[in-house]
Amino acid sequence: MSFALSQTQSYPAWRSRWVFILAATGSAVGLGNIWKFPYITGENGGGAFVLVYLLCILLLGIPVMLAEVMLGRRGRQSPVNTMRQLTSDAGLHGFWRSIGWLGVLAGLLILSYYSVIAGWALAYIPEMGKGTFQGAGPLESQVFFDALLADKGRLLGWQSLFMLLTVGVVAFGVVKGLGVAVRILMPLLFILLLAMLVFAYRHGDFGGAAAFLFDFNFSALSGRSVLEALGHSFFTLSLGMGSIMAYGAYMPATASIGKTVLTVAMLDTLVALMAGMAIFPIVFAHPDINPAAGPELLFVSLPVAFGAMPGGLAIGMVFFILVSIAAWSSAISLIEPAVAWLIERRGFNRFTANILLGLVAWALGLGTILSFNDWSGFTLGGFTFFGAMDFLTSRILLPLTGLFIAIFVGWIMPHVTVKEELNGNNSLMYPLWLWVLRYICPLAIGVVLLVGLYDTFAMAS
Ligand code: PHE
Repeated sequence: MSFALSQTQSYPAWRSRWVFILAATGSAVGLGNIWKFPYITGENGGGAFVLVYLLCILLLGIPVMLAEVMLGRRGRQSPVNTMRQLTSDAGLHGFWRSIGWLGVLAGLLILSYYSVIAGWALAYIPEMGKGTFQGAGPLESQVFFDALLADKGRLLGWQSLFMLLTVGVVAFGVVKGLGVAVRILMPLLFILLLAMLVFAYRHGDFGGAAAFLFDFNFSALSGRSVLEALGHSFFTLSLGMGSIMAYGAYMPATASIGKTVLTVAMLDTLVALMAGMAIFPIVFAHPDINPAAGPELLFVSLPVAFGAMPGGLAIGMVFFILVSIAAWSSAISLIEPAVAWLIERRGFNRFTANILLGLVAWALGLGTILSFNDWSGFTLGGFTFFGAMDFLTSRILLPLTGLFIAIFVGWIMPHVTVKEELNGNNSLMYPLWLWVLRYICPLAIGVVLLVGLYDTFAMAS
């Protein structure tokens, strides 16, 4: 199709497949890998959960990611306009454009709370350096964390700083800003994580952690755990939100989407497992730290361990720098789809679009900040503002968009187009991929979505 070619020429493309891999990995690797994966693994009993999570990445995440990147490269525009273009080219119903819209909306909502949590990680960097946690017990650590959450001004300051860092990169555009940033950030992240691993190996209970993560004890696994693994495989690969679609638009026309997607998914999984192997040895080396502590594992439990270990001051700082970097490159991808859309559709320049959307997400983030202090007693259907945002995005919006993508690519879009873009003519994997996308993905995502909706009503009533 001619539009794809002409758009290719006018649209800024990544210089190589590797920049796409770095950018997509930067998007995928974030708080989801370093904060959420370890704590939900801890809560769900370890090994069996990890196994189910790996299966979900393979059966659900990779096929949907392939579909999303394919759509992006075919459309070569922001997710909203990519969907507009693809549907009108094929004479399809305008309903499918909602894939782009839902993505833009989900991105801004996620960014609003993501920036607050990333702000915590930023706040911990100087605290680690000052030695706040040296010799502190779990109780003192909890008191510190609670005090941080109660302090609106501090939360706002760190959240604003994080937001500035994010819009700062996006303002420079795709090639200069994103391309350069990920080329520096991603290798740095890997090096820091490796350093953490070596440290955990030397000073933690490495064997205990390995047993916890890789001994498949199925008795600890519940139906809810499986759903959680399913939902998380989506969040961690940045699917169902247009991020990966928007990055796909910048991918060189000749690169193999299949190989590229496999690389990104493998890197993301590797980082999650490495984060697990960096955190749990430290947790297990300290008997009074509970691996099932939940969201606090990173911010309450871990600093205690850092405070008690030799060299903990420096390694603790390194660790929170790492978390901030990972969150930063994800946040960039959360805002990019909306920025690209404003530029194309409304004729904004990149700078203004970026500032405007950054302000929207920043303002929405105030709700999340207040939900930890002034508004903590104010709930709607059992949710605080933060809880509602989190639930709405990861349990409803992302699965919904993902479901639409699987159905659209699997059943609605003309097969010749899909096959052509994926170069699927002589690939053995192509029919297998299509089958999984048509049958397994809609079913599995549909279940996550239905349970999510059921939970919403159950909590509201
Ligand atoms: N994948 C990111 C993480 O694991 C979060 C994210 C979700 C980023 C959706 C972009 C889009 O933290």
